[in-house]
Amino acid sequence: MLADFSDAMWISSTLWGGPRSCAPAPYFRVVFHVGGSVRSATLHVTALGLYECELNGRLVGDHVFAPGWSEYRKRVYYQSYDVTAMLRAGENVMGAILGDGWYCGLIAEKDRQQYGDRPLLLAQLEITHADGSITRIASSPAWKTTTGPILEADLLQGEAYDARHELGAWSSPGYDDSRWQSAEPATAPDIAIERSEGPPVRRIETLPPLKQYVAPWHSRALVCDFGQNFTGRMRLTVRGRRGAHLKIRYAEILDAKGRLYTDNLRGARCTDFYTLKGEGVETWEPRFTFHGFRYVEISWSAGPADPVIESVVGVVLHSDMAVTGTFQCSHPLINQLEHNILWGQKSNFLEVPTDCPQRDERLGWTGDAQAFIRTAAFHMDVQGFFHKWLKDMRDAQDHDGAIPPVIPNTHSFGLPPDGGPAWADAVMICPWTVYRCYDDLETLRAHYACMAGYMDYLAKHKVRDYIRAHPDVDTWGGFGDWLALDGSGKTEGGTPKDLIGTAFYANNADILARTATLLEKPDEARRYRELHGRIVEAFRRRFVSPDGLLSAGTQTAYVLALHFGLVPESVRAATARELVRRIESNGMRLATGFVGTPYLLHVLEAHGHLDVAYKLLEQEAFPSWLFPVKQGATTIWERWDGWTPDKGFQDVGMNSFNHYAYGAVGDWLVSTVAGLEIGEPGYRKILFKPRPGGSLTSAEARLKTPYGQAAIRWELRDRTLVLRLTVPNEATAELSLPAGWQSACPGALGPGSHDVEAVRL
Ligand code: BGC
Repeated sequence: MLADFSDAMWISSTLWGGPRSCAPAPYFRVVFHVGGSVRSATLHVTALGLYECELNGRLVGDHVFAPGWSEYRKRVYYQSYDVTAMLRAGENVMGAILGDGWYCGLIAEKDRQQYGDRPLLLAQLEITHADGSITRIASSPAWKTTTGPILEADLLQGEAYDARHELGAWSSPGYDDSRWQSAEPATAPDIAIERSEGPPVRRIETLPPLKQYVAPWHSRALVCDFGQNFTGRMRLTVRGRRGAHLKIRYAEILDAKGRLYTDNLRGARCTDFYTLKGEGVETWEPRFTFHGFRYVEISWSAGPADPVIESVVGVVLHSDMAVTGTFQCSHPLINQLEHNILWGQKSNFLEVPTDCPQRDERLGWTGDAQAFIRTAAFHMDVQGFFHKWLKDMRDAQDHDGAIPPVIPNTHSFGLPPDGGPAWADAVMICPWTVYRCYDDLETLRAHYACMAGYMDYLAKHKVRDYIRAHPDVDTWGGFGDWLALDGSGKTEGGTPKDLIGTAFYANNADILARTATLLEKPDEARRYRELHGRIVEAFRRRFVSPDGLLSAGTQTAYVLALHFGLVPESVRAATARELVRRIESNGMRLATGFVGTPYLLHVLEAHGHLDVAYKLLEQEAFPSWLFPVKQGATTIWERWDGWTPDKGFQDVGMNSFNHYAYGAVGDWLVSTVAGLEIGEPGYRKILFKPRPGGSLTSAEARLKTPYGQAAIRWELRDRTLVLRLTVPNEATAELSLPAGWQSACPGALGPGSHDVEAVRL
């Protein structure tokens, strides 16, 4: 056992649930004495499940859902807290409460207990006395356990709390625990225990309700509308009679009748219950659950007197990452789009990058993460978050090199071992993006073997004649251009899976070749560069006609071929024109899914069609980014048509209103609309490339880069583009004006602020 847990044993309660039933959350306590003065005291603690610790009646730390979610078949993290100030001379009490969490609660649509059947605790308090001697208080069967007010707690289902069963001052000295039982010694799986490095989940902010009203459909129910779809839970302050029972339901959206719409939550109950103890004002927030919601309905049982709900606040939870970037422009709907993208990130960066926070899914879908990572890295410092998730990925990699579709790998939905094109390729795109955004070579170094292992896997199992997802060797071929409106993602029609597969295969080889060069592995770099060349040739042979047309007519096929440089330069302009023609013939609307959407506007701009990119960006009719905004969305929807006036709600089987994937357009807003782009890794060199267009008259992006604060602001005044550029102290920059504009500015810029004016020729 690790030194920090030298004396500790895993322990559990004497009670646990089954594959379909929850047991009450166990409480643990141990009494110990502290004599003499204490120099320092550190609590090292982890759980398989979730823990919350208390010391002498006070909560230890401010983490939520500690120790977090990792690939539990290989690794669990622990936290260390400085608790010196919480100890006192004489009798002390250490306490812990355990929740089922991801370890033994429900995950996705599977049964409970995927990793183990009950939550386990491992804790060691190390006290260093003034004389240098050390006392260790370590988890053991000598600790006492019981159950209390948390009757059940599950991340997907919700929490049930009966305040009548509260245990009083259970974690304070002087408490009578004679009716508590001894803890059980437990056997934990043989996995690594490591100190956590990733950002913990915390309560980031609280939201007051925007509106609060008595539900017209229920005589005893109150509805709170927080005005924002988000991830977390509510905190309630209530007064009422003992035994009054509250049912708390959560929903992202209202139905046509104005009631909470919960059909899209699928198998997640997303309901909390609270029973009052009736001793005055009671405040409660669930501990071991979260929901994705904008609306809360609190209803109560009939009784002699209704409870008085004094206040309800929304508690926003996510991994605690510093906010680094902001974007805004002169177009209010695009500003709301940016707001929605940011809240999509806040809602889904919780321990792992999840697809959605509300239904019975909430998984680390690789495809979604690779699509959004670049946008995410602008809004917040996601370096540590992805360090940790990439480690989960290495742990989840199969011995053959396959990268699963979800990480941690929950083996849900009967998914194949390989995530397939664009999904498993998170193995390249994510570390590469971390390197680009943070100048972080260490992440590439740590991940290189995993990346190379995946390339070997592809060559062995998924590729024929340099075509990946070739139907002869891969009958599944991946998720396709998921949720595209042109039939992609279905078995027939849409962007062919071998086209998607080969395009991303080429990109993988390119990233690996660059990575090998950076890591000073010239032979491997040469090998991957040659491989890249062969894949490009094979792509051209199979999918590109001599005049630059693609064998598949979808927008995504054109976008991928152009974005990954797969079309010969001589016909590239013709390929881009064909993409534009296809967008025009679609009523100047996009039709792309998860795979093509992130690159669509980049490709149009890079090939001389900025005007078309702006038309798509400013399009308000379905399908477009602004259509949900016009419907009042406050986060990014999973589907372009999550709700439409003609058809109402999409299929309940898959219709989240809080999926960040289409929010990947945020990257284009920053890099091209505002014009803050990476010149050299970590923005060591900034490329200012403002591209005004559409109806926009101004835009601005500010970013705290690893080298300091960078910013760009532009404003159109008649024929003049007025720019203010800020270059961090440790960086340089270059200004690239849009075609047809000229200024006296030299182009190369040093640290500091620069006011530049450009005129239209
Ligand atoms: C998830 C996605 C994911 C997809 C795989 C869905 O159920 O919500 O976001 O990428 O499955 O195709």
